[in-house]
Amino acid sequence: MSTYQKIMELQDKKISIQQSGGQYKIDKQHKSGKLTARERIEKLVDPGSFVEIDAFVTHRCSDFGMNNENTPADGVITGYATIDNRPVYLYSQDFTVKGGSLGEMHAKKVIKVMDMAMKMGCPIIGINDSGGARIQEGVDSLSGYGEIFYRNSMASGVIPQISVILGPCAGGAVYSPALTDFIFMVDNISKMFITGPQVVEAATGEKVTDEELGGSTAHCQISGVAHFKYSSEEECFAGIRALLSYLPQNNLEDALYYECKDDLNRLEPVLNSIIPDNPNKSYDVKEIIRLIVDNGTFLEVQSLFAQNIVIGFARLNGRPIGIVANQPKIKAGALDIDASDKAARFIRFCDCFNIPIVTLTDVPAFLPGVDQEHNGIIRHGAKLLYAYAEATVPKINVILRKAYGGAYIAMSSKHLGTDLVFAWPTAEIAVMGPEGAANIIFRKQIEESNDPISTRQEKIKEYRDRFSNPYIAAARGYIDDVIEPEATRPRLISALEILQSKRESRPPKKHGNIPL
Ligand code: HXC
Repeated sequence: MSTYQKIMELQDKKISIQQSGGQYKIDKQHKSGKLTARERIEKLVDPGSFVEIDAFVTHRCSDFGMNNENTPADGVITGYATIDNRPVYLYSQDFTVKGGSLGEMHAKKVIKVMDMAMKMGCPIIGINDSGGARIQEGVDSLSGYGEIFYRNSMASGVIPQISVILGPCAGGAVYSPALTDFIFMVDNISKMFITGPQVVEAATGEKVTDEELGGSTAHCQISGVAHFKYSSEEECFAGIRALLSYLPQNNLEDALYYECKDDLNRLEPVLNSIIPDNPNKSYDVKEIIRLIVDNGTFLEVQSLFAQNIVIGFARLNGRPIGIVANQPKIKAGALDIDASDKAARFIRFCDCFNIPIVTLTDVPAFLPGVDQEHNGIIRHGAKLLYAYAEATVPKINVILRKAYGGAYIAMSSKHLGTDLVFAWPTAEIAVMGPEGAANIIFRKQIEESNDPISTRQEKIKEYRDRFSNPYIAAARGYIDDVIEPEATRPRLISALEILQSKRESRPPKKHGNIPL
C-alpha cells in the first residue's frame, strides 16, 4: 500500500468511526429529543477545541455474537478540550452504539481520561447516556464500573468532577455520578435510578413512570441527588460553563479572578430596611445576596431542594465565594435534615477547592418534630457542625436576624472557627426565641399570675429586651463587629482581602470521621 493509500485508509476509518451506530440510530436519537454524543461535546466546549483520543478502541468480547458486532469508539467519545480557554477532560457516552452500554474497553477509555485529568489537574466532565453495564461482557463490565468508582473517590477534592445525565442512567451506573461534585439534569431526557419502574412494580407493587421515579424533578427537588435542572441540553451546557467559571482547575489552584466592574464601596441603603420590624415576618434572603455580590450575579446550587437553606456561588471584588444563607421564607429558615446535608456538602466542596465561605444567618432552630428526630436530625445536623469546623478556607458570617441555640452554633459561629463574624443591629442571639424561653424560665410566674396572658407577654418582652440584640455576644467577642446593613458589601470585601493570606492547619490524621 502506498503512503497515499495509507492516508486514505486512515481517513476512511475515521469517517466510519464518526458515523457511530449509523444514520438510523442517529435519527432515532434526534427523534427522542436528544443530541448525539459528539454534538453534545461540540456544544459544550470552545468551538474547535475538542481533541478526541482512543477513537480506534473497540470491544474484544466474543460472547453472545459480539464477535460479529462493530462498536465504533466502543460507545463512548473521550478526549480533552477547553471551556473559556481552560482545559477540561471529558467523556460522552454514545447511545447509538449498543445503547452507550459500558463494557471492558468503554470503561478503559473513561478511566484513561480520568487518569489524565488527575495528572494534569483539570476538571473532568462525564456525559452519561447509557443502558448501564454491557450485559454481554459480564463481570468485565462490572470491573469497569468499579474502577471508575475508585477513581471518582481518588479524584474527589483534587479536581472538580461534573456529571451530566442526558439519557438513562440505571443500576449501579448511578454511583459514578453520585460520587462526583455536581450532577446536571434536563427535563424529560435525564433518568437516574437504581432499579427502573418494572422492577419497582415487581418488588413493591408501586406503579410509577420513569420520569416520576428518576427524572429531573425527582432528583433536583425531592431526593437532592442532583444539583442543576434545565429544560434543554443547550441551557444545560451553558450552566456547566457558568459553574466552571467559579471553580479552580484543581485543589492546588485558586479560582479564576475576574476584574470587578462593580463598585467595591457600594452602599445599599435598602438593606437598612429589609429586615421586617415584626420578628415573625419573613423576607427573601436571595434579595440580600444579590444586593451584596458583584453585579448581582448569583449562581444558585440545588435551588429546588431544601429551599430553607440557600447555597451557591458569587463573586466579591472579582473573586469567587461560596454563599450559605438561611431562607426565612421557607420553614422560617429552620435547619432540617435536608438543609443540613445540602449545606454541609457544599461547605466541604468550597473547602476542597479554596473557595472562601460567606454565611448569612437568620435561623430560629433545628426543626423540631418526631419525623426529624426519627430520621436522624442529630446525625445530619452534626454534618453541618463538622463541615464548618473542618473548613480552613476563609470563613465569614453575617448574622442578619435570629441566631438561636444549637443552630446559632452550627451556622458558622465564632466557636466553630469562623474568622470574622459580623452582626446587623437587627441580630437576636440567644439560647432560644423569646416565646419559648419565657414559657420555660417564667413558667411558675406565668401560672401563678392573676393575668397569665399579660404576664407571659411581659416576660417575653423582658427576655427580648435583654437578649434580642447582638451586643451581649459582641461584648464577649463572639461577634467581631456590629455593622450597618447598608455597608455589608464593602465590609465583606475588605474582610476577604485581609483573610486572603489565611493559613490554618489541622492535626495530622488519616482522615476524619464525618457523621454520615
Ligand atoms: C448491552 C444494551 C444495554 C446493555 C441497551 N442495550 N442496554 N446492550 N447491555 N445494558 C442495547 C440494546 O440491546 C439495543 O441494541 C440498544 O442498546 C438500544 O437499546 P433499546 O432498548 O433499543 O433502546 P430504548 O428502547 O431507548 O431503551 C433504552 C433502555 C433499555 C431503557 C436503556 O435498553 C434498557 O432497559 N436497557 C437495559 C438497562 C439495564 O437493566 N441495564 C443493566 C443495569 S445493571 P441494538 O443492537 O438492538 O441497537 C447495571 C449494573 C452496573 O448497570 C453495576 C455497577 C456497579
